Amino acid sequence: MTKKVGVAILGLGVVGGGTYETLVSHHDFYLATQQVDITVEAVLDKNLERLRSLKVADEIIANSIEEVIANPNVDIVIETIGGIGVAKDFVTKALREGKTVVTSNKELICKYSHELEKIARHNHCGLYYEASCVGGVPIIRTLLDGVQANHIQRMMGIVNGTTNYILTKMANEGADYQEVLKEAQKLGYAEADPTADVDGFDSTYKLSILSSMAFHTKIPYTKIFREGISKIDTCDIAYGKEIGYTLKLLAIGKRNENAVEVRVHPTFIPSSHPLASVNDSFNAVYMTGDAVDDVMLYGRGAGALPTASAVVSDVIYAATHSEIRYSTFKNNATAETNVKFISDFTSAYYMRLSVEDKAGVLAKITGIFAKNNVSIVEITQRMDKVEEGRLPLIIITHQTKENSVKSAVAKINASGIATVESLIRVEA
Ligand code: HSE
Repeated sequence: MTKKVGVAILGLGVVGGGTYETLVSHHDFYLATQQVDITVEAVLDKNLERLRSLKVADEIIANSIEEVIANPNVDIVIETIGGIGVAKDFVTKALREGKTVVTSNKELICKYSHELEKIARHNHCGLYYEASCVGGVPIIRTLLDGVQANHIQRMMGIVNGTTNYILTKMANEGADYQEVLKEAQKLGYAEADPTADVDGFDSTYKLSILSSMAFHTKIPYTKIFREGISKIDTCDIAYGKEIGYTLKLLAIGKRNENAVEVRVHPTFIPSSHPLASVNDSFNAVYMTGDAVDDVMLYGRGAGALPTASAVVSDVIYAATHSEIRYSTFKNNATAETNVKFISDFTSAYYMRLSVEDKAGVLAKITGIFAKNNVSIVEITQRMDKVEEGRLPLIIITHQTKENSVKSAVAKINASGIATVESLIRVEA
């Protein structure tokens, strides 16, 4: 039996516009394959020129959120505005009216899913957000369905296209960070404020959502260790490459019993790792479950149609399931008291030091590492790069506590014999 579903789209920018076009162009396909007759009953966007370019009929252009939610033909409200100002207000109003909401808004879900889901439950409507993380890659559905038989032990994701594009260009062309950032902005990958991408906030929001689902407990984004890519020097990418590493901005989540480790930072991974070949603006999430072992999902994490694919899949899901699905964690927006967040995590490290080329320097440096319990795997003096009596020293450590490494770095910098120019974590 065919089910009739009316939707409203709030915000017809890149994602909202792509969603509108997909719903219109695929209408008959969804009718034939899912027996669902989805019509766009209302759109809300101040940019009339944009609505004209999308050929939106005048009669479905609404003037206010009140008009949208009062429309009895609207069953599902799609929020593709972004941010947490107006979007939060509109989503709250729609849920209070009992309308199911589908959103692509990672910041909103990361910060307010608990509050919004409570309103949804109270009003017997759904809140779905596949498009909030990793664009068209069906990661949320996979976490909720595909790997639900597992305890997820670890996830590592390349969840930001802008930074992956920048790091790929820096690696392949030896290009400078600032130069490539400008290109990424021109291509429209970057957020309106690119610091959200390059300083790792965007990845942090996504990791908060994904790790909360994977670990069945709310992981507040404030608990996530964050370091962006803006200080990455192209020379480190090249040195890493020579010793078999590829640099990626990784969102890492690990759970062992009640201990959780969550961090976003530039990471060297072996060039043979599947994530190392995820290039340009592509995204991927690699996770390990106790039964399934390793699983990797790969695809486009941004863009009009890839993100619309995720939005529309939520619309179809909501339209074809009578049972509403809520999150798998019950704790509120703060972390559960029995979950311990590990800030002094363990990792291997890559370091580049600038040292004077003279007797005794190496002994002093290794002495400081030894005193701080930092064990070295490999040390390379780049004699081919001597400049004004100084040269780069590349050091790779064994698995070490973050605080031990930081303490050794502070002592080396204070000693006057060397400067630690870069410190990059290494994951296997
Ligand atoms: N700015 C984001 C990215 C867009 O670069 O991946 C999708 O969230």
